[in-house]
Amino acid sequence: MSPLTPGSATRAAIGGPHDPNRVGHEWLGTLQEVPLFAGLSKRHLQRIAKLARLRRFVSGSAIVRAGEAGTSFFVLLDGTARVVPAGGRARRLGPGDSFGEMALLDGAPRSADVVADGEVLTLTIGRSSFGKLLRREPALTQELLRTLAGRLRAAERSRAD
Ligand code: CMP
Repeated sequence: MSPLTPGSATRAAIGGPHDPNRVGHEWLGTLQEVPLFAGLSKRHLQRIAKLARLRRFVSGSAIVRAGEAGTSFFVLLDGTARVVPAGGRARRLGPGDSFGEMALLDGAPRSADVVADGEVLTLTIGRSSFGKLLRREPALTQELLRTLAGRLRAAERSRAD
């Protein structure tokens, strides 16, 4: 997808004087551009912002490691990352993409490494907040299911190749 507009929001987060990990309302414009949050009202986005935190990762760091227990869900706000499934083909993620939902949904270990390609900024939502969000926001849950269906189809196609 096309890059989100980081602009002043990213600068504010990086240079923020108080809690640099809080998702303040300067982020609402950026959150509106995330496909997963499409169709959510400003009030709902504010609720998500309250539940979430910002996290930064340096180039090459593992944001998620295959085999570990899942504690958070991530939305990539800035930068790119690589999903590296054990034995599978690596896939590139960009701004607006999300990851880390699988281990939270089924309680099984992380299915892949997700590695920062360059500096990465994520929105991070903890396990219990993620569960609450799915129960409260059917539009978000539907979008997440759409992404999972697309991934399943892609996996079936690459198995057939
Ligand atoms: P989880 O298993 O919690 O942690 C690794 C994450 O990588 C996984 O959730 C998905 O969000 C993501 N992931 C795993 N396999 C793929 C894939 N084939 N395509 C895109 N993302 C994937």
